[in-house]
Amino acid sequence: METYMATPSPLQIPRLFEDNILNPVIPTNNPQTVEGIALGKKLFFDPILSADNTQACADCHTPENAFSDADRFSDGIDGIRGNRNSMSLFNLAWNYDEKFFWDGSSFSLEHQAFVPVSDPIEMKSSWIQLETELQQHPEYPNLFQQAFGTSKIDSTLVTKAIAQFERTLISSNSKFDKYLLGEVTLTPQEINGFNVFMDEAKGDCFHCHGSDKNPLWTDNIFHNNGLDATITDLGLGKVTGDPADNGKFKSPSLRNLAFTAPYMHDGRFETLDDVINHYSEGLQNSPTIDPLMKKVAQGGVQLSDQDKADLKAFLLSLSDYEFISNPNFLNQ
Ligand code: HEC
Ligand code: HEC
Repeated sequence: METYMATPSPLQIPRLFEDNILNPVIPTNNPQTVEGIALGKKLFFDPILSADNTQACADCHTPENAFSDADRFSDGIDGIRGNRNSMSLFNLAWNYDEKFFWDGSSFSLEHQAFVPVSDPIEMKSSWIQLETELQQHPEYPNLFQQAFGTSKIDSTLVTKAIAQFERTLISSNSKFDKYLLGEVTLTPQEINGFNVFMDEAKGDCFHCHGSDKNPLWTDNIFHNNGLDATITDLGLGKVTGDPADNGKFKSPSLRNLAFTAPYMHDGRFETLDDVINHYSEGLQNSPTIDPLMKKVAQGGVQLSDQDKADLKAFLLSLSDYEFISNPNFLNQ
């Protein structure tokens, strides 16, 4: 008997990524396939994953918000709220360390997808209940058969399919991407904003948030960017147990900020102006503040009103309108 093979569907690596950064490593035990991705997409949008069949992954990770949530804190199925802002989902395959969540507490996309289903502040289901429901469903057994060569559904296959879909969420068509490819021009304001971003004597943002040479627009590393003088949510420190990590959170990508407000791990800032004012004048000192927050003694990088407006215009040029309207990623 031949072993069943689903149809391979390798990731389409965008040129800017290919030219500048390492290609992602896909787990050998979960190759991308047409059938696996389609199944993962269906599961991602299906409220069957929650205890009372009311909440899908997509409810807290909506396509029009670049797969984040417009609410500061997302409601779980009982209306119970966590204390973290939902994260946007794109270019996840390039998160080489595979440390997920604001505090890095989840390893690998496959592993991450285990969490929300049984999390009491998210979907609050149990895997045994979900496996049974999927097994009795009119369509799913056949779809698992096509994707994985078995109609016996278990949590590992569910999370594999979801991870395959998540890896296809690639965002690489912002105005700034097109500018780098020579397809469009930027306004003088956007160009000055980029210079402010790159200038160590001005915004000095690029160390943590990427550059024209890092199309991810994040270093995917954990830092304390000076939000609080007294740290209450320990972030990475709670995960590692090392007080030197207290108050450190993952640098989010600056792609798609037009769709992902509010900002920061706790969604404390509603607008990009608030964020820029934080870095310009609002920094709070604490023992673990990142050494790159060099001007904390003066409250921040002290930008002029013009530089602030230009920086904002540049940041918005990193937003990818094709990504949020890509039919492959919409529930249809
Ligand atoms: C109730 C809202 C909610 C639901 C439902 C939900 N998520 Fe999330 N998701 C969040 C929040 C909030 C975070 C950030 C958690 C943290 O850092 O503590 C997050 C983080 C993530 C991350 C980490 C991204 C990164 O860059 O580190 C992934 C991946 C993810 N969710 C996928 C999923 C999948 C897949 C499902 C469905 C199985 C799902 N989520 C269901 C709210 C939700
Ligand atoms: C030392 C590293 C570092 C530097 C330098 C830095 N940031 Fe950040 N940035 C972070 C971290 C870490 C977070 C998340 C912090 C949190 O939520 O606790 C963040 C969050 C953000 C966010 C929120 C994004 C979201 O989706 O919530 C924006 C926007 C942002 N930074 C822009 C900038 C700009 C503009 C500059 C330069 C003026 C800058 N950053 C400099 C590390 C840095």
